[in-house]
Amino acid sequence: MATHKLLLLPGDGIGVEVMEEVKGLMKWLEARGLASFAIEEDLVGGAAFDAHGEAISDETMARAQAADAIIFGAVGGPKWDKVSYDKRPEAGLLRLRKDLDLFANLRPAICYPALADSSSLKREIVEGLDILIVRELTGGTYFGEPKEIVTLENGQRRAVDTQVYTTSEIERIARVAFELGRLRKNRVHSAEKRNVMKSGLLWNQVVTALHAAEYSDVNLEHILADNCAMQLVRNPKQFDVLVTDNLFGDILSDAAAMLTGSLGMLPSASLGAEDPVTGKRKALYEPVHGSAPDISGKGLANPIAELASFGMALRYSLDLGDIADALDRAIARVLSQGFRTGDIAAPGEKTVGTVEMGQAVITALEHELG
Ligand code: NAD
Ligand code: IPM
Ligand code: MN
Repeated sequence: MATHKLLLLPGDGIGVEVMEEVKGLMKWLEARGLASFAIEEDLVGGAAFDAHGEAISDETMARAQAADAIIFGAVGGPKWDKVSYDKRPEAGLLRLRKDLDLFANLRPAICYPALADSSSLKREIVEGLDILIVRELTGGTYFGEPKEIVTLENGQRRAVDTQVYTTSEIERIARVAFELGRLRKNRVHSAEKRNVMKSGLLWNQVVTALHAAEYSDVNLEHILADNCAMQLVRNPKQFDVLVTDNLFGDILSDAAAMLTGSLGMLPSASLGAEDPVTGKRKALYEPVHGSAPDISGKGLANPIAELASFGMALRYSLDLGDIADALDRAIARVLSQGFRTGDIAAPGEKTVGTVEMGQAVITALEHELG
């Protein structure tokens, strides 16, 4: 059996709590003889800053480069609010994404049947929802230069972020969306703001050209990003694959999270390009949520987003797709059995904590795998 080299980066706040449940799952899989892992764990975010003054060290980056997959928790928190921009916890995650060239962030938003009443929207709007947001992750406003705050002669301060995309950056993320669209319902929406942004115009042109040249069998629709936000709330089931830039993808995926019941439900995979020789790709698996300072340290966090992110690692990096499928069914099962962390509970409904939810998923997985 292949031994998979994993780097765990729990980070801060509930990142640490939900990672414990993934560790429990990994131990269980090994004890059952279903998988073999060589696991390293390291600091990132505020925890790394506290230990050595930066949000991720060069040593940790080297470990990340060498891993088959990185499992990430969450970073950030009020404790580090005054830390300078390049050293703040979020900088650790941004460096991982950029240096490993993890340009494709897959954010599936699935409304499990048992949670159709947990969304803030009506059951009929979200029931059966299954959207895949494909977020460009290494370009756009997050990384464009110049990025600065300068003091002008008149004493005013001027802040600049630069939204920038090149043809190849757009083309490679669009290709990912079209390929995944073909495996799904063959429908891709591309969201930008070509009506006001040059980068939106180029985005639209590149997606259109790639579609015509190689993917004309896929149904493609262009949508302005603001309308897209509205349509996600009005009639989300019209979407199958939704491809968009880094910043719009960040915002639209948090909105999509609430269609599933909670931000605590949304996993993600951040993938690099496939190596033409080995067929392998660099990959980091991260829940969409953050460190949730309002509930951290209390054992209340929903671990499903993190567990499902590990599921995506099983599927996309470790060639253990059958276990990933069983894990998805196990998550559906615990939800239908009525296990609820606070974020997905109806008012007055009995709730469980992070540990009980993690344990329930393992018990359900045991059942799924016979
Ligand atoms: P957040 O995602 O941490 O929390 C938003 C809300 O959702 C909170 O009310 C929180 O309690 C709830 N929530 C999130 N995950 C949950 C879970 N698993 N179970 C139950 N409830 C959950 O966003 P925020 O409050 O805007 O940001 C807090 C910090 O996290 C900031 O420093 C931010 O930069 C950082 N952040 C990090 C990541 C990441 O590491 N990938 C992602 C988003 C935000
Ligand atoms: C996310 C987060 C990150 C982002 C932050 C923490 C850098 O919000 O993964 O969605 O903005 O990409
Ligand atoms: Mn976000």
